[in-house]
Amino acid sequence: LYDALAHASAHEGMRLARAPNASFPHNDVGAAEDAIRAWRGKGGGGRIWIVVESLYSMDGDKAPLDDLYALAARNDAFLLIDEAHATGVYGPGGRGLAARFEGADNVVTLHTCGKAMGVAGGLLCLPRILRDFMVNRCRPFIFATAPPPVMAACVRAALKIIEAADDRRAELMSCIDVAGAELRRLCAIEPSGSQIQPIIVGGDIRATTLASRMQAHGYDIRAIRPPTVPDGSARLRIALTLNTSKDDVVRMIAHLGAELARLEP
Ligand SMILES: Cc1ncc(COP(=O)(O)O)c(C=O)c1O
Repeated sequence: LYDALAHASAHEGMRLARAPNASFPHNDVGAAEDAIRAWRGKGGGGRIWIVVESLYSMDGDKAPLDDLYALAARNDAFLLIDEAHATGVYGPGGRGLAARFEGADNVVTLHTCGKAMGVAGGLLCLPRILRDFMVNRCRPFIFATAPPPVMAACVRAALKIIEAADDRRAELMSCIDVAGAELRRLCAIEPSGSQIQPIIVGGDIRATTLASRMQAHGYDIRAIRPPTVPDGSARLRIALTLNTSKDDVVRMIAHLGAELARLEP
């Protein structure tokens, strides 16, 4: 059972798992519970996996993790939480938004190493029995060359840097706050509250036009179109990092406000 906005990689995983699957509307825990009841009502057996992201990659909003965890507990389900965009950025020592659930026997968290960690590959935090199952039964993992040891060394070094980076996380949160205030003031856009900020403009051409106008101002901002996002929700995706100053971000949002105002309907 997966959130309707779950990443393409979750869909690939479900395809490989060959288990029946269904989506629930984005972040709607009540609808997820209804879907579980309906499945059980029809005689559906087995253990259910609930698949979500802690921070959604194209919308920048967060999952209601406490409610999802309670839902999983009530229904004897596993909860798989993709922390790709939260790892390094949120949580104690950058351990992600779901750090408090790690160690539970029905929770798996997935930390990609290619985003904040700047390396490649991924880490799973999961109960030992599931780890052993993966090592023994996960075909793409078994029948492929293992990542080279140097990758593990780089990931280990990145984890140490991330753990000690509270000051950088605070700086990023402050940039997110500044950007949020400016987005409200100059673009009448409600901020996502995270480092990922979509500017949803609807049609594909509106999105590509706006992106190329922002690029002409010197900003590396891209348009995201269907099928990466649902039809009719083409957007710019702004990712705030510490590679730019707050002044740059404020200037960028001023340009964005002006360009949104002159964007054809
Ligand atoms: C939410 C989410 N999960 C997983 C991935 C896959 O990460 P990687 O390409 O590092 O394996 C991505 C990458 O875009 C992502 O956004």
